[in-house]
Amino acid sequence: MTASKKYSVLFVCLGNICRSPAAQAVMQHMVDERGLGDRFYIDSAGTGGYHIGDLPDKRMRVHARPRGYELTHRARRVHASDFEDFDLIVGMDAANVDDLRYMAATIEQQDKVVMMGDYIRQYPNYDYVPDPYYEGSEGFELVLDLLEDSCDNLLNQIIKKNNIA
Ligand code: 4NP
Repeated sequence: MTASKKYSVLFVCLGNICRSPAAQAVMQHMVDERGLGDRFYIDSAGTGGYHIGDLPDKRMRVHARPRGYELTHRARRVHASDFEDFDLIVGMDAANVDDLRYMAATIEQQDKVVMMGDYIRQYPNYDYVPDPYYEGSEGFELVLDLLEDSCDNLLNQIIKKNNIA
C-alpha cells in the first residue's frame, strides 16, 4: 500500500440494512477516533437486493444511536467491481462469505473475503454475526456488541499488517 492510497474495507451482509451498515458505522467511528480517517475508506453492501436505496432498519438505527453511531448509509448490492476496488471484504456470516467467494472472479479476489466472526474475541459462543431482522431488541444489541468487539480486533490487525501509522 502506498502512503496516499486509502485502505478500503467493504462490510457485507444479506440486506445491507442491519449488520453491515452498523459495522460500517462502528469501524468509521473507530478509525476517526484514532485519527486515521484519511487513511481508510469504509463502505457496506448486501448480497441480496431487497432493500436497495433504503436507510438502515429503524431498529438498528435506534439501537446504534445511544452508542454514538448515526447510520445514514443507503443500501446497495455488492458489485463485481467491489472485488477490484476494495482491499478487504468482510462477510457477517458463513452464507455471506460463501456468496462472496462464489462471486469473486479470481483467486486473488476470493482471498480478499474474510469472515467477521473470525475477529470476535470477547464472545466465545459466537463465530458469526447473527441476522437480527426477525429478532427483538436483544438481537440488535448483540449485533452491536459483536461488532464493537470484532471491529476493534480487525482494525488492529489491518493497521499492523499494512504498517498504517
Ligand atoms: P441484514 O439483515 O442482512 O443484517 O441487513 C436483513 C435485512 C433484511 C432481510 C434479511 C436480513 N430481508 O430478508 O429482507
